[in-house]
Amino acid sequence: MGVELRGLEGKNVLITGASKGQGFSHAKAFAEAGCNIAAIDITEPIPDIYPLGTPETMAATVKAIEERGQRCIPLPCDIRDEAQVKASVEKALDLFGGRIDVIVNNAGVAALDPIHKMRSSTMHAVIDTIVKGAIYVTKYAVDNMIGRGSGKIINISSAVTGSGHAMLSHYVAAKHAINGLTTSWAMELSEFNINVNSICPATIKPGIGQGSGMVLGLAPEAGVTMDEAFEMFSSGGNMPGLKWRAEVQHITDMVLFLASDNADMITGAIIPVDCGQMSR
Ligand SMILES: NC(=O)c1ccc[n+]([C@@H]2O[C@H](COP(=O)([O-])OP(=O)(O)OC[C@H]3O[C@@H](n4cnc5c(N)ncnc54)[C@H](O)[C@@H]3O)[C@@H](O)[C@H]2O)c1
Repeated sequence: MGVELRGLEGKNVLITGASKGQGFSHAKAFAEAGCNIAAIDITEPIPDIYPLGTPETMAATVKAIEERGQRCIPLPCDIRDEAQVKASVEKALDLFGGRIDVIVNNAGVAALDPIHKMRSSTMHAVIDTIVKGAIYVTKYAVDNMIGRGSGKIINISSAVTGSGHAMLSHYVAAKHAINGLTTSWAMELSEFNINVNSICPATIKPGIGQGSGMVLGLAPEAGVTMDEAFEMFSSGGNMPGLKWRAEVQHITDMVLFLASDNADMITGAIIPVDCGQMSR
């Protein structure tokens, strides 16, 4: 007997950072499972941060969701800005009849900064996007879940919370904050039947265009190519052996599982999809 993911069809899913990388992969998979998507993405550059989503990647995301027969609401929004988040979530709720069933707090940025040369521009970009962004989005999108007594929140953390990482202390600290938000929200929201979990991905195979952009973006700062950076971060963190190389689909599989009814008894969990990194 096979196992299928239950309860996804007809759900409204809000994803941050939905126009590129992991967020784009999650959005397509949710659409294939019969879900509608509210796609939040900044769609403009952040100074001193590698290239992010653009109006073109957002348009391509809408097209990809609609090609799968589902609805996609494009929401250009910088999640560091509470007013923009409030307006975007209100628009999504309005167009989705007041119901957001799943929140995926995925948007994040990184930069390589040794502590003695920490740039305030990148420090604020990393911490504000990862920590404040997830707080603002959840603050405005969770109310309807509380009212209905149902919902799933999935926060994207990182395997670096199990190990630390040189030159990424702002990023590692922000991802620890995500894990703290996860366990705290899980306690706070349990009485409303809302599950809150974190996923801790390993280094993800990067790609150009709508591929995963983080390792691609950090490669020039590290003075290596995209493929060399993927290999450097993967072999430095993951279990030994070439099997242990992660791609966006590995994270998408866990995101959809956590959003499904199959995961109803999982909450407050910090779940590694990490090629063993957190147990080393
Ligand atoms: N790529 C990896 O190796 C890796 C490993 C572990 C965890 N992660 C985490 O996974 C998530 C996705 O990573 P990815 O590689 O797909 O990144 P990516 O750069 O490909 O995509 C990130 C998306 O978030 C959007 N975004 C960034 N800042 C934003 C803001 N302030 N407001 C709204 N949107 C914003 C970008 O425009 C982009 O579309 C991030 O949280 C990242 O920290 C990545």
